[in-house]
Formats: sequence, C-alpha cells, structure tokens
Amino acid sequence: MSTLVSGFSKLSKTEKINWLINNYLSDFKDAENILKQYWNTDNKLQQLHDEFIENTITNYYLPLGIAPNFVINDKVYAIPMTIEESSVVAAASKAAKFWQTRGGFKTKVLSTTKIGQVHFTYKGDFNKLQHFFNRVKSQLITDAKSITKNMEKRGGGILDIQLKNKTDKLNHYYQLHATFETLDAMGANFINSCLEQFSKTFKAEAETSLPQPVNIIMSILSNYVPNCLVRAEVSCKVEDLVDKDINPQLFAEKFVQAVNIAEVEPYRAVTHNKGIMNGIDAVVLATGNDFRAVEAGVHAYAAKDGQYSSLTHAKIENGVFYFWMEIPLALGTVGGLTSLHPLVKLALEILGKPNAKDLMQIVAVAGLAQNFGALRSLTTTGIQEGHMKMHLMNILNQFEATATEKEQIVNHFKTNVVTHSAVVKAIEKLRR
Ligand code: MEV
Repeated sequence: MSTLVSGFSKLSKTEKINWLINNYLSDFKDAENILKQYWNTDNKLQQLHDEFIENTITNYYLPLGIAPNFVINDKVYAIPMTIEESSVVAAASKAAKFWQTRGGFKTKVLSTTKIGQVHFTYKGDFNKLQHFFNRVKSQLITDAKSITKNMEKRGGGILDIQLKNKTDKLNHYYQLHATFETLDAMGANFINSCLEQFSKTFKAEAETSLPQPVNIIMSILSNYVPNCLVRAEVSCKVEDLVDKDINPQLFAEKFVQAVNIAEVEPYRAVTHNKGIMNGIDAVVLATGNDFRAVEAGVHAYAAKDGQYSSLTHAKIENGVFYFWMEIPLALGTVGGLTSLHPLVKLALEILGKPNAKDLMQIVAVAGLAQNFGALRSLTTTGIQEGHMKMHLMNILNQFEATATEKEQIVNHFKTNVVTHSAVVKAIEKLRR
C-alpha cells in the first residue's frame, strides 16, 4: 500500500516519523525506537545532519575505518575509509603493508581541468552563430567576473569557452563547452554558476544580434573529467614479489594475465573496476566528496576507447613488475561537506590537510591498492577465504552471538574454512 501526502517537508521530524509508521511501518516491530536510537544526543550535531538534506528522519551509520602504512611518494599515510563491505579496509591495509617494503606507491597528478556545458539549440546559419560567439566570448567571461573573482585571485577560474557544433548528432544542437580550473574545490557550484551566467549573457546578446533565437536547454557541469587525471603506480623486481608461499614469477605472470583479461573482457572489467571503486569510494566518502560524480566519471573513462575496459594495467619488463592506473578524479578539500561534517574534517586532518591534488593521489592509491589486493587473492587463494573471514562477524551478529560464543567460533575458524553453513553449524553445535 502506498499513500500520497502533500506538504510532507513542512511536517516536524516527529510528525514525519508518525506518518511513516502509520502508513508503512505499522507491522514493523520497534520502528520508532530503531529510528530514534540513531539520533544524536548532541542537538547541534543532529541539527547539522538534519539540514544536510530534506526530510531527515534519522542518521544512517557506516563504519569509518583506517588503513595504515600507505607509503605514497615516500610519505606515510593512514587512510580513512568509509565503507560497509567487510573485507575492504583489511585488503587495503594488507596491500599497503605489502608495498611499504617494496618502494611504496608513486603518484602524479597529470591534469586538473574540469568541464561545463551550456546546451542550446539554434535554427539559423552556423557561420552567423560562430561569428556571433567569437564576438560575445569575452563578454561571457566578463559578465561572470563576480563569480570568478575570488577563484581567479587564487589562480583558478574559466580557462576557455568554445562553441561546439553538434548538429551531426542532433538537429540544431550546439554547446558552449567551457573548461575550468577550480583548484581545491570540486567546483560544481562554481562551474554551474558560471554556466548559468554564460547562458543568460549568451541568450540576451543573441536576441539583439542574431536573426533566429537561441534556445537554452540547460547549463550544467560534466562529471566526465578526462582532463582531471591522476596516475598511481607500484613496481618492484619480480623476485621481490615473494609473499608467504607465492612463487614470484608465476604470481607476476598470473597477475598480469588477470589484468589483461579485464582489459579485453567487459564482464570481468566491470567487476575488476568495482573492486577499484571499493577503495576509491571509501576514501571519497570519508573525505566528504561526491562519490556518485566520481563513479560516473571513472566508469565513463573506463569506456573511453569504445569498449568498457580495465582501469588498471600491468606488465613485466626486464624482470620488473609494474602495476598502474590513470583515472579521472574531480575532488575537493574545501567547500561542500569538507568544512561542515566533523568526521570529514577529522578525516582530512588524518591525511595531513591535503589539497585537492594531494587527495586525488591518495584516492587513486586506495583504488590501486584495492585492485592489487583483489587480484592477489583471486589469482592465489581465491577471494572467498579472506572475504568470509571478514564476513564471519556479520554472520555471528545475525545470530546474536554472545562475546564468548564469538570468541570460540572465531577460534574454531582460524583453522577451518568459513562458509555460511559452516558458521551456522558451529553456532548450533555450541548452543546444543
Ligand atoms: C568485491 O567487492 C570486489 C571484487 O569482486 C573485485 C574483483 O573481482 O576484482 C573482489
């Protein structure tokens, strides 16, 4: 049953909860308590969270974990990660430790340009439009000065605006394609404000100068940022890849083969890249950045050559194993949640107050490390061993295991393979 409601956003939090319970949760045991148990007793903090979005009824917790021992360009980092998947932080920490003694991660920001577009239609002659654009281009930039002034003072701003003729794709479709440098801000608000100003100026000027009207469809940044790129890599002599019972040469060859498979096979590439995003999203979230924007941009980049492919690459050359990735990341360390959410501020402090370029490098490393960890497991023991070990606690919690039960069962599974049914059996046996 679903119930329509009007004026919901105007109701108080308690009224919203009551409405929800009456209409959707009347049979759900303890609904009100469950919602309220996540309210923060610090009213100011709770209000801050309430006001992040509309219609907040409670807080949704995710764990914030730490993956220590990351050596990036010879500097040590402990990386905060926000994620619910049991094995991600453990895998990141393990990969960090592995590379810590093999030269660490090397990173480089390759570019930092972001894109925004004013999409419009025009039914007149293209040459006239081009001529008109050339004339008003500087006006577009001047009229946005009140928005760009501060950014320019810091060295950023509008880099260029181009007119793009897209009529081969869609009748009468053109763009103002603008490039921006937004420095330490992710820049979405800055770019969108500039674009909306461009569209106003462009339309107004067109009214007096062009025989046909310019019809603005929309003005919006692009989350595809192939020119906001960061590179992360690890490398070491193949013979140094030893880890427990691994034969380094065989391991390196199998690892490269696994990457090659993800390069040519989209079904594998999606899962392979999902594993990379386990690391990336977790740091993006912990640092208050927009993981949906990052996800959209990264996956588009993975398909840039016409087929969805692996984001990472690997090779063995002259006895050296190389593993690397270049990905687009539009991140901010100022603005947005970064100065609002206490945990985000704390996460940035842990990372040594990074600027956006530093953060791009740290995030890329988290992604590369995660992929290394996943491929190492997949090509050796298989993924389930480590995954189920980490998942064991979730299963025990589902069965409301006591502290003593947990201790005994965890002990038991130190030497036994964890599967869901094996854990259930162990609990039942213990409780018999
Ligand atoms: C699970 O969250 C991620 C993996 O599937 C990634 C991969 O297969 O490479 C383990």
